[in-house]
Amino acid sequence: MPGLTIGDTIPNLEVETTHGKFKLHDFAGDGWTIIFSHPGDFTPVCTTELGKMAAYTGEFRRRGLKLLGLSCDDLRSHADWIKDIEACSGGCKVDFPIIGDPKREIIKQLNMVDPDEKDPTGNQVPSRALHIVGPDKKIKLSFLYPASTGRNMDEVVRVVESLQKAAKHKVATPVNWKPGDPVVISPGVSNEQAKEMFPQGYETVDLPSKKEYLRFTNV
Ligand code: BEZ
Repeated sequence: MPGLTIGDTIPNLEVETTHGKFKLHDFAGDGWTIIFSHPGDFTPVCTTELGKMAAYTGEFRRRGLKLLGLSCDDLRSHADWIKDIEACSGGCKVDFPIIGDPKREIIKQLNMVDPDEKDPTGNQVPSRALHIVGPDKKIKLSFLYPASTGRNMDEVVRVVESLQKAAKHKVATPVNWKPGDPVVISPGVSNEQAKEMFPQGYETVDLPSKKEYLRFTNV
């Protein structure tokens, strides 16, 4: 993905949202933030996605995350559309702000423009982009999906758990990892360090190379 990507600090843009005007760094504070875009209000997949975001608000809050939506529609449109989202979300409230970006300035700076999709008047629209921003205001993970493919909120929660574990311990999460599964100890950690860092113990897989790099533990 060209432009803003993993490791970059999000720009401190001033944004107008359904919850008022603020700067991105003030909103993010020193916690975790998910900034996500959708192609347009009053479209089917987007309505289901934001409905599920609303339903998962508790999941995100429990993990210390704030949500911030974004599209190129204006704030009036967002306010009207939120009623539809809430009607389709089993009554869950959309209590996170949504940025209005009719001038398409924010989506460009956040690297969220869909190269293929246009609105009915030929203007650019955002892809289904999603940046997970850490407490240092740096992007830790990005999704970039086309308009045709809705995101999976269970996958968003899963990667948040992975990122937060990796930020806290010197570990990484292996293929198909789910919260509660064993994790692997990061390759930069020596066996001597691992014994100190993981007093609960760890298991080293015996490999043909005899290199002891595949070490599982629980954190
Ligand atoms: C949708 O949300 O359903 C959608 C939006 C833009 C293009 C295609 C689908």
